[in-house]
Amino acid sequence: MRNFIASLPKAELHVHLEGTFEPEHIFAMALRNGIELGYESPEAIVAAYDFHDLPSFLTFYYKAMHALQTEQDFYELTYAYFEKAAADNIVYVEPFFDPQGHTSRGISFATVINGIHRAQQDAEQNLGVKSNLIMCFLRDMSAESAMEHLQLSLPYKDWIIGVGLDSDEKDNPPMKFKAVFDRARAEGYKLTMHCDVNQKDIVSHIWECLNDIDVERIDHGINSLEDDALCAEIAKRELGLTICPVSNQFVVQTYTTDEIRSMLRKGMKPTINSDDPAYFRAYLNDNFEALVEHGNFSQSEILQLVKNSFEVSWLEPTDKNGYL
Ligand code: HPA
Ligand code: ZN
Repeated sequence: MRNFIASLPKAELHVHLEGTFEPEHIFAMALRNGIELGYESPEAIVAAYDFHDLPSFLTFYYKAMHALQTEQDFYELTYAYFEKAAADNIVYVEPFFDPQGHTSRGISFATVINGIHRAQQDAEQNLGVKSNLIMCFLRDMSAESAMEHLQLSLPYKDWIIGVGLDSDEKDNPPMKFKAVFDRARAEGYKLTMHCDVNQKDIVSHIWECLNDIDVERIDHGINSLEDDALCAEIAKRELGLTICPVSNQFVVQTYTTDEIRSMLRKGMKPTINSDDPAYFRAYLNDNFEALVEHGNFSQSEILQLVKNSFEVSWLEPTDKNGYL
């Protein structure tokens, strides 16, 4: 099965570039930029990982971002992820980035996106990995800040395919960002939002994504299974759900294999993704292998999940056909 998974050309639709920041790179970049993070070695960084819920992960995730200072840093972060992706036989990616995590530290939007974009171009040329970037807003920051960043992104519109919403979901419902997402749609961006596993008010957040925001995809969305009408509506709209099994294991202590099977059975379109692979120590193939190990997934189930990723991707239909 390992070889089977490795041999399949795959797409990844839920990976945070800042979540691909490997401890060796955090350490080296912090040193090179004179940033004091308080760790003596890459091993000390890993030893500090203690993720058991979303906030405990996010605290560390934002702390490590301080090591990223220059355009070259963003280039190296992004290119290193694409090298990992190529090794996993990923041919297409829609990666997320979190500009507010950087502008809030005094790093310009241009520094961030120029570095990422150059790495995307080089990865397509040198590694054969194509990608389209998704800009995420941090939902624990204000709607005004999100709108400002939407404005900042407009000169780079051709480099960004869509917008998403991530960070701490508690008391930060989709509706808080309705005006921002309406404007983003009017500017031509595709729309997705995180509905993280087992967060407060999660089922109503997913309904808001459908009824008020009119998203074109849902990131995570595991808890939709608690509401039959919600599942039926997601299936009817053919909305993709970007599920992250190893990430879920950190939050709910299961790889959510039963939930993924339920979605397949209900005609929903789950896809498999790595989320923050450097922190969760699992890239995309590892996530598929977890389904085999912990849920005894068959080759045909794996194939269906891989096919779903291309189907619900934001590739042009003509480009999609080449992969399906
Ligand atoms: N959920 C919410 N915010 C995030 C995540 C996530 O899985 N990863 C990075 N930011
Ligand atoms: Zn995520």
